[in-house]
Amino acid sequence: MQHETLLKISGIDKSFPGVKALSNACLNVYAGCAMALMGENGAGKSTLMKVLTGIYRKDAGSIAYLGREANFVNPKQSQEAGISIIHQELNLVGNLSIAENIFLGREFTTKFGAIDWAKMHTEADKLLAKLNLPYSSKQLCSELSIGEQQMVEIAKALSFESKVIIMDEPTDALTDTETEALFKVIDELKKEGRGIVYISHRIKEIFEICDDVTVLRDGQFIGETAVKDLDEDHLIEMMVGRKLEEQYPHLDLPVGDVRLSVENLSGSGVNNVSFELHKGEILGVSGLMGAGRTELMKVIYGALPKTAGKVRLNNQEISIKTSQDGLLHGIVYISEDRKGDGLILGMSVKQNMSLTALEHFSKLGHINQKAEQMVVNDFIELFNVKTPSADQPIGLLSGGNQQKVAIAKGLMTRPDVLILDEPTRGVDVGAKKEIYQLINKFKQEGLSIILVSSDMPEVLGMSDRILVMRNGEISGEFSRSKATQEKLLAAAIGKQ
Ligand SMILES: Nc1ncnc2c1ncn2[C@@H]1O[C@H](COP(=O)(O)OP(=O)(O)OP(=O)(O)O)[C@@H](O)[C@H]1O
Ligand SMILES: [Mg+2]
Repeated sequence: MQHETLLKISGIDKSFPGVKALSNACLNVYAGCAMALMGENGAGKSTLMKVLTGIYRKDAGSIAYLGREANFVNPKQSQEAGISIIHQELNLVGNLSIAENIFLGREFTTKFGAIDWAKMHTEADKLLAKLNLPYSSKQLCSELSIGEQQMVEIAKALSFESKVIIMDEPTDALTDTETEALFKVIDELKKEGRGIVYISHRIKEIFEICDDVTVLRDGQFIGETAVKDLDEDHLIEMMVGRKLEEQYPHLDLPVGDVRLSVENLSGSGVNNVSFELHKGEILGVSGLMGAGRTELMKVIYGALPKTAGKVRLNNQEISIKTSQDGLLHGIVYISEDRKGDGLILGMSVKQNMSLTALEHFSKLGHINQKAEQMVVNDFIELFNVKTPSADQPIGLLSGGNQQKVAIAKGLMTRPDVLILDEPTRGVDVGAKKEIYQLINKFKQEGLSIILVSSDMPEVLGMSDRILVMRNGEISGEFSRSKATQEKLLAAAIGKQ
């Protein structure tokens, strides 16, 4: 069946100072279909969508919308024309309610000109119900988790009843149930004849809900293909321009002595947890969202108070009351929420990287700037961070490249224990492998690594041993050779 072309974007160029973000980028959107937009971190996906919706001005190219040339000069215009976008970054106002956020700037009014709260809440509640969300539209957005806020962004995009809906990595922070609800809605939107642009690094999702794929590489259009004519390997090859052998390069090395020992630890959301971590070991921590994995890590490195139990490092009991104490003892935590408490978006790549590692560069309170610059440049090279210079504000880097800087920042303090919480969320397939290879490099040097991840193939592929958490407790432990996806899942939901 031939589907109507809603949107035809061709030959787009866009440069920023020092960066050519797009060069001959193209994208078509068809009515009743979901078009996946794929490409490595920094390939230009978000930029192309920002050019389309009038946030950025294009340098060259053309956009035809519903058969006519369109040049939106601001997001309001594209919105009114029927194009909605759910951005990669959340844009909600925390101290407003869900309903206020959804209808911000276009509140319903009564015939007397007052805000019609009853109608706003009814309409907002309808949208929430459509997405299967159990909360009231009167709730404040600041009380919601990141995943829930993302769902509100989705509800907001739906409220415009647009012809084209763009979703930029919408499932990054969603639980499996939320993702399922979203996919149902996407199916409905397709049936209603709307066109979807779906951006994600999760290849499985593309095969699940998209009809076609457009691939960008270095800002250039590489190809458009029907999903049914593609397999995973071919798609990856289109994105990275080469075949990727072995996605999970696990290093089989004997582990060393016990480095970290956690005994009967309890704290907020954590109940009587004990485990050991060895030198040169990668310990995977699996479990469903909300199982207490992040809380456990936070209690260990001091960001959340512990109520009982002991933590020993190299056989010595240590007292950690703040995350600063954790850092001083060589325990570093890289947050899953890199924008919330990982990085300072207004500061440069260099400043972000060396923020916590400053003592390595300072002598008598003076920062040795030359040394700092050298180490920072080394890390940029080692991590293959896509940036015009170390002085670029980090907020201008693509999402995946921000993540690489967050990990580099942790490693620069030369820790003994590195805790990585969802380290490859939002990271493309090629960069994921680079991150794994770096983790391996540090593992070889004896670093002890805890890998918290919801990505089961990643945990299974990279870990030497795996713990599973459920309701704040350890519900399973598996050696690398014994672990399977089924066993991890059974332990995560308590069916053993
Ligand atoms: N406002 C800006 N100023 C300067 N450079 C920018 C700006 N916005 C994007 N860039 C650069 O343009 C390139 C494309 O970035 P973009 O965010 O579009 O990538 P992406 O494909 O969305 O990547 P990701 O998958 O990591 O989100 C990157 O090199 C990025 O650093
Ligand atoms: Mg992006």
